[in-house]
Amino acid sequence: MDREAQWIDIGASEELSKLPLRRVTAKNTAIAVSFRDGEFGAVSNACNHVGGPLGEGRIDEAGYIQCPWHGWKFHRCTGLGEPGFEEDRVPAFPLKVENGRVLVDIANPTKRNKKPHAPHPLARDPKRAPGPLRLAGISTTVMDAANPRFSGSDHLLDHALAAAQKLGAETRLIKLNDLKFRACEGYYSKSYRACTWPCSITQMDPKDEMDRVYEALVHWADAIIVTTPIRWGAASSLYFKMVERLNCVQVDAASHERLLIRNKVAGFIIVGGQDNIQGVAGQMLSFFAELGFLFPQFPYIAHSRGWSHEDMENNVRIVRESKSLAEGAAALAARCLDLAGKLVTADAALASIERGGRKGRPVMADVVDHD
Ligand code: FES
Repeated sequence: MDREAQWIDIGASEELSKLPLRRVTAKNTAIAVSFRDGEFGAVSNACNHVGGPLGEGRIDEAGYIQCPWHGWKFHRCTGLGEPGFEEDRVPAFPLKVENGRVLVDIANPTKRNKKPHAPHPLARDPKRAPGPLRLAGISTTVMDAANPRFSGSDHLLDHALAAAQKLGAETRLIKLNDLKFRACEGYYSKSYRACTWPCSITQMDPKDEMDRVYEALVHWADAIIVTTPIRWGAASSLYFKMVERLNCVQVDAASHERLLIRNKVAGFIIVGGQDNIQGVAGQMLSFFAELGFLFPQFPYIAHSRGWSHEDMENNVRIVRESKSLAEGAAALAARCLDLAGKLVTADAALASIERGGRKGRPVMADVVDHD
């Protein structure tokens, strides 16, 4: 039943008709006001998905507002979802123009309706399935898959996974080079709330294969070993492409109060022709620590011959032939699994450590100002 109208003056029609879409506030109600072909429209500013600001979006040819965060569409006048999704609708407000002023009745919007969407499989609660310890190896080296070359970091990862199998663990090898996945498109830069778990890209693009990495890290593995070559003093480009896409896991811990990685262990294998192992390891330790991973003693092994060696063929030969490095990779796997085994049984003891690193946590509110 209609409530008593509460018409609010939101501005001069001449002014409001200058922009096709804008956000206005009418008595604390945020409204996406549009103008096209002589007609105004007024719908709720909050998108049905995760609340993106519709008034900051775009209007398509058919008159639908496209949310600026992830592209969901709602008609600018009726609030209905795009064809096929009409049931998914945002509130539309009665609107009239009188004496050159635009008025919106904020008491009588149509009802918001969120059509239930099947949750993405990754969105399930991370809960360890019973069974043997599980180690995922993640290779980040880049190569021509049709014409593969020997990779030192992959070679050592093979040793680590073989050792884990001998210890009774299940293993899974993920080579980023084999996956087709998009680079992070910066939803976080629009708003931290636009950086969702599962990743917005994963939810929107079923062809994107980063879900393999998410599944392994968040749901499957008790321990991971990430390997990288050193490229000009840094980890590989594929490593950073993965890290950017893992931002949604970190944001969940830092901003949405939900720790997806709990009681899991990470180790690293770093192989370079030239140096900066400490810098590369530092970045990896820092990032995976912020995801919530724990580390065994001596959490990485590495090899490099330094600045004065340009003969990469010898570097490759040394890694291929080195018993010591192979044993080091096996021992790293054993250390990771040893700690993972202890954590699996001590699961309850580490139950509540959200925002432990204080990233994204406001500090000023609890500081007493003595000035
Ligand atoms: S599409 Fe609007 S918030 Fe995601």
